[in-house]
Amino acid sequence: MKLPSLKIRNLEIKYPVIQAGMGVSIGSAELAAAVVKLGGMGTIASVGLGDPERGKTHFVEVCSGELANVIRRARSLSDNKPNLGVNIMVALSNYREIVETSVQEKVDYIISGAGLPLLLPEYVGDADIALIPVISSGRAYEVVVKTWLRKYARKPDAVIIEGPLCGGHLGFTPEMLAHPETCSMDILLKEVKEVMARYGLDHPVLAAEGVTGKEDIERFLKMGYDGVQVGTHFITTEEAGIDAKSKQVLIDASNEDIVVIKSPVGLPVRVLKTPLVKRVLEGGKEKFTCPYRCLRSCNPAKSLFCIARALLATKNGDVEHGLYMVGCRVDDVKKIYPVKEFFDALEGE
Ligand SMILES: Cc1cc2nc3c(=O)[nH]c(=O)nc-3n(C[C@H](O)[C@H](O)[C@H](O)COP(=O)(O)O)c2cc1C
Repeated sequence: MKLPSLKIRNLEIKYPVIQAGMGVSIGSAELAAAVVKLGGMGTIASVGLGDPERGKTHFVEVCSGELANVIRRARSLSDNKPNLGVNIMVALSNYREIVETSVQEKVDYIISGAGLPLLLPEYVGDADIALIPVISSGRAYEVVVKTWLRKYARKPDAVIIEGPLCGGHLGFTPEMLAHPETCSMDILLKEVKEVMARYGLDHPVLAAEGVTGKEDIERFLKMGYDGVQVGTHFITTEEAGIDAKSKQVLIDASNEDIVVIKSPVGLPVRVLKTPLVKRVLEGGKEKFTCPYRCLRSCNPAKSLFCIARALLATKNGDVEHGLYMVGCRVDDVKKIYPVKEFFDALEGE
């Protein structure tokens, strides 16, 4: 099948593929720029940016300043081509400032999940930026749509549905995760399409769950989706901004090493059973102080580990202390490779 292009607001994208803005630093300027140049949507991860030491005293300023630098670097690396965006988690304590920095830097789109992005249109104002919520149920989508229409007369420009098998934080209860067939991608699509019909919306719907190549994209297109968001399969690209030792952890892992634990974000999170996770599963509490207060929902006194420190450790290749978020298709992650290889394989009928 020749893959169709994708149109979101005024953006024309050659391939119906969004590179997930994975934090911390996997969605780097280098990865996002490469994806933009190859004909996809390149997404910068906005979480955990900047000098961690200076961030202890000037958290908001450091994060916003570094995000602006990363966006500028990505723009320059991609020759100012369009289809460069930012992923912003609602759970961040500096959500508003990160959105405002993205607006100032004139990104083309904002993807926002890990909570309902109810205030996003307020912070974006009338800037010409495509707004793309991430949800995991028709009910959640309806709350977003209703709020945006009522308070801001604003429609989403597309929506991403994260399924129960996807990587990172999960918008499902443990019971639903134990029975993913009850909230499968076709059921979720039907729910979202019903909401779209009720509110007269006609925009692309993207699937985020276990995409490893063209066959998976075709499967979702046949199901009725307009495109996909790819996470786990891009972690081991050469361009992803984490240490090669951490990429190797995924290559060496198998699907049997995957577990779902409770994250300080307040949601379940799918991760590899690496040393940190083994300690947490045995009831251990990591020793840490919290200088950042990066998450609204995190209570450092009760959290078993600091997710900011753990993801920074992953970035630096510290396998003992790192947290390795993944989707369900780790067996398919086999090597470190240039992201061009993924896009080259999308060519043809
Ligand atoms: C390592 C990792 C980090 C992620 N970080 C974020 C993030 O910062 N914000 C977000 O909205 N989603 C994040 N996600 C979820 C992805 O955006 C994406 O929806 C998901 O990975 C798709 O499923 P897949 O991994 O099976 O391809 C992350 C996922 C992974 C695996």
